[in-house]
Amino acid sequence: MTTTLPPALSRAIDLFIEPPSDPDVSRGYLDLLSGQSSAAPPRNTGFIQAVWASGIGSLLYDNAQAFARRFLGAWRTPIDWLAIPQGGVALDIGSGPGNVTAALGSAAGPDGLAIGVDISEPMLARAVRAHAGPNVAFLRGDAQRLPFRDETVDAVTSLAVLQLVPEPAAAVAEMLRVLRAGRRIAVMVPTVGTMPPPLRLLPSSGAHFFGEDELGDLFEQVGFERVRTKTFGNIQWVRGRRP
Ligand SMILES: C[S@@+](CC[C@H](N)C(=O)[O-])C[C@H]1O[C@@H](n2cnc3c(N)ncnc32)[C@H](O)[C@@H]1O
Repeated sequence: MTTTLPPALSRAIDLFIEPPSDPDVSRGYLDLLSGQSSAAPPRNTGFIQAVWASGIGSLLYDNAQAFARRFLGAWRTPIDWLAIPQGGVALDIGSGPGNVTAALGSAAGPDGLAIGVDISEPMLARAVRAHAGPNVAFLRGDAQRLPFRDETVDAVTSLAVLQLVPEPAAAVAEMLRVLRAGRRIAVMVPTVGTMPPPLRLLPSSGAHFFGEDELGDLFEQVGFERVRTKTFGNIQWVRGRRP
């Protein structure tokens, strides 16, 4: 194991409930899932997540998301709306190739910290290569069980991830738990909407397409306030605030 921690990872670990005694950062991200016990949260074993967990899938996704963010406004993170304070901490859950995490890092400024959390090793390898830096860190972990203490972060975002998480309610509850009072969250998911026939096959591949009010209701149930939803075709943004 490599125990020389990059500074951004060291700052991330300072926020943990239980800092690892022998952190594995040998691949540039902190791996919290190697050697995980049987008490681990449920895993998505479907086809789509298997693609995102592969080298070729992560390469294809990286290129596709760059295209989508360039041409489709619905794919862009509402960074300004998240109102990350200078020097604050922002979390990108299911960070994939890491470009959203990097944008959070720029918004938080040089004294701030952006942390990307993902379950896929190839996605994390790409993210580390392209975006890890003095205030951007990545860790391999599960959205359903975050390692951070309660009320430690100033903003949370998650794009195109909850549809792949076996227990989205657990993930949303974790997002609330780690967010500081008065701070904001913005999450993007695919919705059923007017789904074109080929896409209707996707739920059987391990991706859940949310009903129009499903995620907004869940946000309110776990305790977010000022919940707002905005739907663009099959893409929905749900935003809220921790009271
Ligand atoms: C469609 S990609 C989106 C990546 C990134 N958010 C973006 O918009 O570019 C979905 C990502 O969620 C990750 N993911 C799936 N289930 C996860 C979980 N339980 N915990 C953390 N990440 C997860 C996948 O590995 C993949 O990188």
